[in-house]
Amino acid sequence: MATIAPPIFVLRPPREQDVPVYAAHLADPEVSVWLEDRCQRPVPEADVAAFLLGGAWCRWAIECEGAFAGVTGLHYPDFSWGAARFFIVIGDKRFWGRGLGGGAIKAVVSHGFMALGLRKITSDYLEPNHGSCTIHERAGFTVEGRLREDAWRQDRWVDRILVSLLRDDYLAMTAARR
Ligand SMILES: CC(C)(COP(=O)(O)OP(=O)(O)OC[C@H]1O[C@@H](n2cnc3c(N)ncnc32)[C@H](O)[C@@H]1OP(=O)(O)O)[C@@H](O)C(=O)NCCC(=O)NCCS
Repeated sequence: MATIAPPIFVLRPPREQDVPVYAAHLADPEVSVWLEDRCQRPVPEADVAAFLLGGAWCRWAIECEGAFAGVTGLHYPDFSWGAARFFIVIGDKRFWGRGLGGGAIKAVVSHGFMALGLRKITSDYLEPNHGSCTIHERAGFTVEGRLREDAWRQDRWVDRILVSLLRDDYLAMTAARR
């Protein structure tokens, strides 16, 4: 069976023009439902601008087929510990389910270990977020734990799944694929 290639994308610094587009993405409940609690209320455009354009350690816009598709990167670096946390939001729903998230997580993880020299990348997702679960699994993340009933979404409590990837596991995985 033929496999469909994921769309070609670039990771670039966010620009001012991305701000209203990303604000519109976050205003869509289908996009925001599995994001943080503060995204469950209207996010002021000034906050979106501060997030996208303010000082950041490792934050990229995902550009795909000429459009701003979302954001990804690593935040909360702990240099003494060699760790940082992965994040991703593909706000343009036209790109969902086409392999963009899977491609972006692999690019960010590779940058984190190979260019930034991290030892460990952490992440988390709310349990019903199947797309997020799949991209983490396929990128090699291991489940570390579960925060039970950690968020209220769609009239019920949902668990948060904590995951991580160690550089040694990443190197072993990439060597095995060669
Ligand atoms: C979660 C997210 C990053 C996934 O990105 P994506 O580009 O859709 O992911 P991929 O296309 O690489 O999909 C990975 C797999 O998950 C599946 N998937 C994606 N979204 C899904 C969903 N809502 N329900 C079930 N499966 C889903 C895809 O079909 C694919 O499986 P397949 O290859 O067997 O078809 C993206 O949907 C997103 O940013 N959503 C909004 C914000 C968000 O939830 N961010 C993550 C917070 S932890």
